Amino acid sequence: MSKVTVVGAGNVGATCADVIAHKELCNELVLVDIKENFAEGKALDIWQTAPVDMYDTRITGSTADYSKTANSDVVVITSGLPRKPGMSRDDLIQTNAGIVKSVTENIIKYSPNAIIIVVSNPLDVMTYCAFLTAKIDSSRVFGMAGILDTARYRAFLATELNCSPKDIQAVLMGGHGDTMVPLPRYTTVAGIPVTELVAEDKLNAIVERTKKGGGEIVNLLGTSAWYAPGAAAAQMVEAILRDQKRIFPVCAWLQGEYGLKDVYLGVPVVLGKNGIEKIIELKLNDDEKKLLNESSVAVKEVMNVLDNLNQVPA
Ligand code: NAI
Ligand code: 2OP
Repeated sequence: MSKVTVVGAGNVGATCADVIAHKELCNELVLVDIKENFAEGKALDIWQTAPVDMYDTRITGSTADYSKTANSDVVVITSGLPRKPGMSRDDLIQTNAGIVKSVTENIIKYSPNAIIIVVSNPLDVMTYCAFLTAKIDSSRVFGMAGILDTARYRAFLATELNCSPKDIQAVLMGGHGDTMVPLPRYTTVAGIPVTELVAEDKLNAIVERTKKGGGEIVNLLGTSAWYAPGAAAAQMVEAILRDQKRIFPVCAWLQGEYGLKDVYLGVPVVLGKNGIEKIIELKLNDDEKKLLNESSVAVKEVMNVLDNLNQVPA
C-alpha cells in the first residue's frame, strides 16, 4: 500500500494529482486545500476519470483536515500564491512562507516519515522553509524546479532541431530563477553533443529563453504554468515510490558539495525510495562554477529574507 498527499488543489496541485492517479503511482491519493470544498470537488472530478481511463488509484479531497493525510509516504506541497505578470517569484515570499510553514507542521504531525517535495515559490526558499519546519533529514525534504526548467530547455531544443524531445538529455543547475545555470556542455541529442548540432548563437538564445521560461508563460496566461510543473512533480513521486534511482536536477540542501554550504540549490541527484540517495558532483569548468556561485548568492539573499521574517515575533 502506498499513499500520496498533494497539498494545494489549484492548477499545479490538481494537475500533479491527475498525473499521479493516471499513472497509478499509489493506492491512495489525498488532495488538500484550504478553500472550502475545493479539494473535494477536484478529487471527485479526477476520480470520475478512473472508469474512463481505466486506473484504480483512489483519490479523495479534504478541506484542511490533515488527519485524512495520515501515514502518507510522499507529500507534494503546491499551496501558495502563483505569480502574476510583473511579479518575481521572490515577491511571493512572505505569504507563501506562512502557508508552507503551517502546511508542513500539519504534514509532519500526521506523516512523520513522509518524503516532502516542495513546489511553492520562491522554490528554493520555500524548500528551506519546509526543511526548517519539518526538522527531518534533508534527504527527505527537497524541491521541484530542475525537471521543469530542464524540460523547457529540452522542449525548445526539440523545436529547434525538429526532433523528438525524448532524445534530448540535459542537466541544469542553480536556483529556480533568472540565475539558473543550463549546461550546454552536458546536453546531448541521442548521444551527440548539442554543440555539434546547434549554432552557438541559437544555443545561447535557447539558454536565455529557458531562464525566462516561467515568465514567458506568466505573460501569456496571466498566471504561472501548471501542466509541465504538475507532471514534473509527479515524475519525482514516481522515482521515489518505484525506487527508480532516476537522476534528476533537484533543489537539494548542500553541505559542502560544489564548495557550497547551507543553501538549497538545484543539483543533479539520485532519487529513490529514501528520497535523495546521492548528490552527484559534476566537474564544472571555471565559467560554470562562477555561474553556480552567483546563483547560490542570489538564493542565499532570499533565504536571509526568510531568516529575518522568522526572527520577527508572530
Ligand atoms: P493556484 O492558485 O492555482 O493554487 C494554489 C492553491 O493553494 C489554491 O487552491 C489555494 O486555495 C491553496 N492554498 C492556499 N493556502 C493554502 C493552505 N494554507 N493550505 C492548503 N491550501 C492552500 O496556484 P498554482 O498555479 O497551482 O501554483 C501553486 C504554487 O506553485 C505557486 O506558489 C507557484 O508560484 C508555484 N509554482 C512553482 C513551480 C516550480 O517550478 N517550482 C512551477 C509553477 C508554479
Ligand atoms: C514557473 O517556472 C512560475 O515557477 C513558475 O513556471
